[in-house]
Amino acid sequence: MTALPARIRPGIAALRGSRIREVANAGMGRPGIIPMWFGESDLPTPDFIREAAAEALRRGETFYTPNAGVPALRAAIARYMTRIYGRAVDESRITVSASGMNAIMIALQALVDAGDNVVLVGPMWPNAADCVRVLGGEARFAVLDSGNQGWRLDLDRLEALCDARTRAIFVNSPGNPTGWMMETAEQQRLLDFARARGLWIVADEVYARIVYDREVAPSFIDVSGADDPVIVINSFSKAWCMTGWRLGWFTAPAALGETLEKLTEFNIAGPTSFAQWGGVAALEQGEDFIAAQRARLAQSRDIVVERLSTFRRVRFAPPAAAFYAFFAVDGLTDSVEACKRILNETGVGLAPGAAFGDSGEGHIRLCYAISPERVAEALERLAPVLD
Ligand SMILES: Cc1ncc(COP(=O)(O)O)c(C=O)c1O
Repeated sequence: MTALPARIRPGIAALRGSRIREVANAGMGRPGIIPMWFGESDLPTPDFIREAAAEALRRGETFYTPNAGVPALRAAIARYMTRIYGRAVDESRITVSASGMNAIMIALQALVDAGDNVVLVGPMWPNAADCVRVLGGEARFAVLDSGNQGWRLDLDRLEALCDARTRAIFVNSPGNPTGWMMETAEQQRLLDFARARGLWIVADEVYARIVYDREVAPSFIDVSGADDPVIVINSFSKAWCMTGWRLGWFTAPAALGETLEKLTEFNIAGPTSFAQWGGVAALEQGEDFIAAQRARLAQSRDIVVERLSTFRRVRFAPPAAAFYAFFAVDGLTDSVEACKRILNETGVGLAPGAAFGDSGEGHIRLCYAISPERVAEALERLAPVLD
């Protein structure tokens, strides 16, 4: 690497690149690879959504939009939230974002100063903790316990991590990589704690609809009022197969809207105009697609659960939600090296557990959002190295 011509912030220079990419870079583009490393479906965005965006382009929707999003999309999101949660969610609480990722960064920009800390539930997809670090804050982890009954959160332990410099508790449920779901009673207890301590809850619910035993996962929307210190983050990426669109939204107290708009201005000056019209179509006509996608994922999940359970070196809890299997491998101490080796030996691309924080080491994540046939083939290829 060539030297920089002048100083950048040391905290930024110290950030580590994605460990998932580190494995993927070793194999992407190679023929015959079955890619299960990234968190996205192999299905393209459905036609009715693409057509709505194309029609918006033809109509000339090519200008800046309000920072909070086009009114038609904010209204569609409010109707959608009201419909799926059975609680009135007013449009004044909705701000459109350029993806879940963008919403996470903006939420944390609003809350975290240098020297502050955020308590996150881990193991977790690494980006939120890195956003805290980008802002000069400290990421603290309340680590889930794993057992035969699945992943469990010790709320006493989480609460004990909060101190005078804690600004927010970050909960990703359904969780990537674990598939853990926080139950309603736990959400209620954490909300009571946040209220009492004057903390924000940032709830990353981008997998809200990727759940196998109900229509929608338990949400902080279910337990909170309109003015509670809760910011719920959603995304179009997962449920509607729109990862490349970069579109998501916040549901937050209306009083926070002005702050989110300001920060949107300084980050992206408004989400992409025509993409937002695709978002309207997704919310208004997308339920059949979600149901079909869920059925396909359930088939792939069943294949993974059945086959992985037969591997003698593997321990895992069947995922209740999201589209990952996160499994421990006996004797595994360097998951990055292991994933590179598995890639070379089997042509299956997996994500190293170390990518999800220290508590993820010893594990491997497999994303099964590809066709059941390819999932079955991948598991056959993995048998010699994991059994
Ligand atoms: C837990 C979690 N949150 C947020 C995101 C961000 O999704 P996007 O930026 O595509 O909306 C992801 C993507 O993988 C994720 O796994």
